[in-house]
Amino acid sequence: MDRIVIAGGKPLRGKVQISGSKNATLPLMAAALLANSPSVIRNVPELRDVQYMADCLRSLGADVEYGDHMLRIDPRGFSISEAPYDIVRKMRASIYVMGPMLARLRRARVSLPGGCAIGSRPIDLHLKGFEELGARINLEHGDVIAEVERLRGKEFNLSGAAGSSVGATCNVAMAATLAEGTTVIHGPAREPEVVELLGFLSRMGARIEIIRGRSLRITGVEGLDGADHTVLSDRIEAGTFMTAAAITRGDIMIEYACVDHMEAVIGKLREIGVCLDEMHEGIRVRGDVEEYHPTTIQTWTYPGFPTDLQAQFMALLSVVPGQSLIREGIYVDRFLHAAELIRMGADIRVLSGSATIQGVDHLGGAPVMASDLRASAALVVAGLAAEGTTLINRVYHIDRGYEFMERKLQQLGADVARITDNEPDEAAVASA
Ligand code: UD1
Repeated sequence: MDRIVIAGGKPLRGKVQISGSKNATLPLMAAALLANSPSVIRNVPELRDVQYMADCLRSLGADVEYGDHMLRIDPRGFSISEAPYDIVRKMRASIYVMGPMLARLRRARVSLPGGCAIGSRPIDLHLKGFEELGARINLEHGDVIAEVERLRGKEFNLSGAAGSSVGATCNVAMAATLAEGTTVIHGPAREPEVVELLGFLSRMGARIEIIRGRSLRITGVEGLDGADHTVLSDRIEAGTFMTAAAITRGDIMIEYACVDHMEAVIGKLREIGVCLDEMHEGIRVRGDVEEYHPTTIQTWTYPGFPTDLQAQFMALLSVVPGQSLIREGIYVDRFLHAAELIRMGADIRVLSGSATIQGVDHLGGAPVMASDLRASAALVVAGLAAEGTTLINRVYHIDRGYEFMERKLQQLGADVARITDNEPDEAAVASA
């Protein structure tokens, strides 16, 4: 099991390039199954989660080539309508194959994903959407089984108690592209990764309209063709590097960041006192100009502040003088990283869905444990600024979602190294 060791205290300086978005790539891969011919996806990050999804598609009969930041997915052998537990337990996003299975094979048997480190993550909205399209849903021995003679378009609302669902919107929209008639989905997620998927589906021949930015109208077609698509850059990776520059009081240029998708994040950094300048080459982030001030963050669905940057901002705020508050609107229990940051000297109190952070003068390096993908990133961010050495265990979480993280940090001058042990990875529990 690999570990990352950081000797903290060096301000980051230099340039970093943001990779393609993991959360955009995964639904695109599933969508390729809907076509009658191969698709090519470019600017694909080299990540464990992409490998898992590739394995998942192969297990369903598709042919997948993955290398040089490119995927070629030939869905012509796609004929298996079962995704086994062994694959789903490794990555929750494998649930994305359910929509294409129903649309193309009229049957889907997928293991129900279990809980994960960021809390309970039901799939009731995915199933509700499939039912609205006419599927019969049953649960058998931990698997969800959905069956339908022909999916039929319908008008329905897909939002839940925590707002819209990225996963359910992607899954149900994919199914609706091949349904008979017109589907109108009210309350869809509007995250850039969802819009990316809708663009890919349209390029494949799907008929999709976004109505007043609030609903989707999808008119079913008889078949879809493969398409060629370049993935947008990862806004969560960009936000993570922004917090890393800010906490180390560094000065970095972030290239290929989709700043248009990061308004809430950039707004909060400016409120804290971080200088961000949009320039021709990218966005320059300077943490060495102004005093920092505390802030209040409420995570919510896009265009709100993303839950996937909550942990990294908690690390930053732990050294911002004064009292900050974070309210988690998406995953109320997503605070496992707080306990690890406290081990590094942070002053954080977590109470029912929110955390109060009293800024301390400095953090101290310590051995810590990564609990999920974004929590691991937060520990790296904290370690970069901490006095002394931080040893982060369970690094496999980072490898799921950050391409070449320590290499990119080294290029920015950080004292970061990976220790590779020969012990096998612990069973990776599914996370964001
Ligand atoms: C995606 C992202 C994840 C991010 C999350 C929220 C991927 C691969 N993962 O996850 O990184 O943290 O969006 O931005 O893109 N919910 C239900 N029932 C459902 C589905 C969701 O109640 O059927 C709830 C969830 O528990 C959560 C909220 O809706 O409170 C949002 O979840 P959702 O947007 O579906 O997240 P994911 O697609 O799983």
